[in-house]
Amino acid sequence: MNKESILKQTEEYVRKKMEDESSGHDWWHVYRVWKTAVHIGEQEKADLFTVQLGALLHDIADHKFHGGDLTVGPRVAREWLEGLKVEEGVIAHVCEIINEVSFKGAGVETRMHSSEGMVVQDADRLDAIGAIGIARAFAYGGYKGLAIYNPDIKPAEHETFEQYKNNKGPSINHFYEKLLLLKDLMNTKTAKKMAEERHRFMEQYLDRFFKEWEGEE
Ligand code: ADP
Ligand code: NI
Repeated sequence: MNKESILKQTEEYVRKKMEDESSGHDWWHVYRVWKTAVHIGEQEKADLFTVQLGALLHDIADHKFHGGDLTVGPRVAREWLEGLKVEEGVIAHVCEIINEVSFKGAGVETRMHSSEGMVVQDADRLDAIGAIGIARAFAYGGYKGLAIYNPDIKPAEHETFEQYKNNKGPSINHFYEKLLLLKDLMNTKTAKKMAEERHRFMEQYLDRFFKEWEGEE
């Protein structure tokens, strides 16, 4: 099978599998990461076949919906790609990307081991910030029953993935625990540039949020 039909079939498979989720982790998140990854990958001269498979499959089986099991994603992806007779080198690379890509807390190192992985991680992180990132944070908070804000609960720096995962703080804290940190964690030059305006927009948003909270504006 040629690369184009592998990508097309993977797109359809992922879309069908994710279409019903309402946690902000839906098909359209994957769609945006995919498009953004292609854009960054072109600039960074990464292998676009691997980048696209990695982006399309990066959230295929979220540990948050599998009792924290981080091995489900790569396993499901491998099964799918083997079914399409993708060569082993590419499968291994895509599975490595899926395994390494997710944010596990501000104090937990998550370094990618290939430029294709860096591209996918940057695209995933760009979708967590800016106007879309704000919408996703509150969508996630609503899904989890979190408060939008509570001045009595201070943001925390999560030293372990366990702490980050079990966090029940208000959605606004998530900006300080993750979203505002992402700009400086971008791997590629292209994504660093794209992150600037999105970051600025979140800062302006938070500024207004706290003024409105105190009835000042
Ligand atoms: P990603 O696919 O970007 O790795 P995650 O699975 O970590 O995303 O989370 C899905 C979305 O929900 C992201 O936009 C993320 O920022 C947001 N989110 C994750 N944890 C929280 C939280 N504790 N409060 C608010 N938003 C959150
Ligand atoms: Ni994602």
